[in-house]
Amino acid sequence: MEITRRYFPILLSFLTLFSWSGVGRGQDPMLARTPPMGWNSWNHFACDVSDAVVRAQADALVTTGMRSVGYAYILIDDCWQGTRDDAGYIRPNAKFPDMKALADYIHGKGLKIGIYSSPGPKTCGGYEGSYGHEEQDAQTYSVWGMDYLKYDLCSYDGMGDQIPAYRKMYDALKQTGRPIVYALCQYGMQKGWGWAASVGGNLWRTDDDIRDNYFSMAELGFGQNGLERFAGPGHWNDPDMLEVGNGGMTDDEYRTHMSLWCILTAPLIAGNNLVSMSAATRAILTNPEVIAIDQDPLGVQGHRVTQEGPLEVWIKPLEDGSKAVGLFNRGWGAMPVTVNFRDVGLGDSANVRNLWTKKDLGRFQATYTALVAQHGVVLIRAK
Ligand code: GLA
Repeated sequence: MEITRRYFPILLSFLTLFSWSGVGRGQDPMLARTPPMGWNSWNHFACDVSDAVVRAQADALVTTGMRSVGYAYILIDDCWQGTRDDAGYIRPNAKFPDMKALADYIHGKGLKIGIYSSPGPKTCGGYEGSYGHEEQDAQTYSVWGMDYLKYDLCSYDGMGDQIPAYRKMYDALKQTGRPIVYALCQYGMQKGWGWAASVGGNLWRTDDDIRDNYFSMAELGFGQNGLERFAGPGHWNDPDMLEVGNGGMTDDEYRTHMSLWCILTAPLIAGNNLVSMSAATRAILTNPEVIAIDQDPLGVQGHRVTQEGPLEVWIKPLEDGSKAVGLFNRGWGAMPVTVNFRDVGLGDSANVRNLWTKKDLGRFQATYTALVAQHGVVLIRAK
């Protein structure tokens, strides 16, 4: 028993190395060790994305302090593609005059850069996809200096089994020798969470596109319960990008959005205009204690422990033995929500800290109750 305990971690490291050596299959466990954090062009800019927009957002990621709390990836979504050259290599459209220069600029800021394509002939926006050009495209991304690829099913839907199509691009990326985070976007079809990591996915969308309103966000976020066993270091469920700051929700609702995504150990990909965001938006996106819940090294996705009508309690265990607990009110009007310490694996009493007000609240016996605003959250760390 003692021997097993002593040698198990060594055995585990060997197995990990073995699986990434190309002998086994599966995602690179050293990439996306914690859920990726960054900014993506789609939610705010959609097809109005350009080299200038991307540079300005990267500048803002730095000046707003987002880089220093962990946001690292600048992700170009759909609508960057032009036509292929005679040899079949993809070229960007006129809005992106020089992708390599853009990547150099992003890297020069200490950030990483990502790009977007589809296994089908066309992307969701009708631009050129990678079908039949997977190796060439992977090579091109690598030459440009891309660190992340979002691969969106789009027109491949209906063309055949998507699993080999996703594996094909993973193999092509791997052949380049460049570490490239691989983000599958197939909206949870065929229970993607069950196989996405085995075809190299570091993250995979679990559902349809998020919209900038409370009901869309809540349906996606609270709907993740039960998927926690599929996530872990290097491979994450992705309930879609953040809408924080895009204007369709109240600050209480955006705090719910951010808190829930952190309890879910979800990728934190901001989708707002960082250049013009308000102080309130910035505070929601950059609270280091809230982000620490998402980025906790244990990498365990949280889950729901109780649900009484519109009131829900969620828990995520943390590396230092403490628990992140979200007290959510999905209903109308403020309501008290109670967590029973026993339900979340705490002892008879616990020290409680409110992570949004950044206040230690003291030691509580058996339970903690907070008045939670409508559509709001009280997010605590307890031990
Ligand atoms: C799909 C994806 C979105 C975005 C668009 C781009 O809808 O789910 O996240 O990438 O395509 O066309």
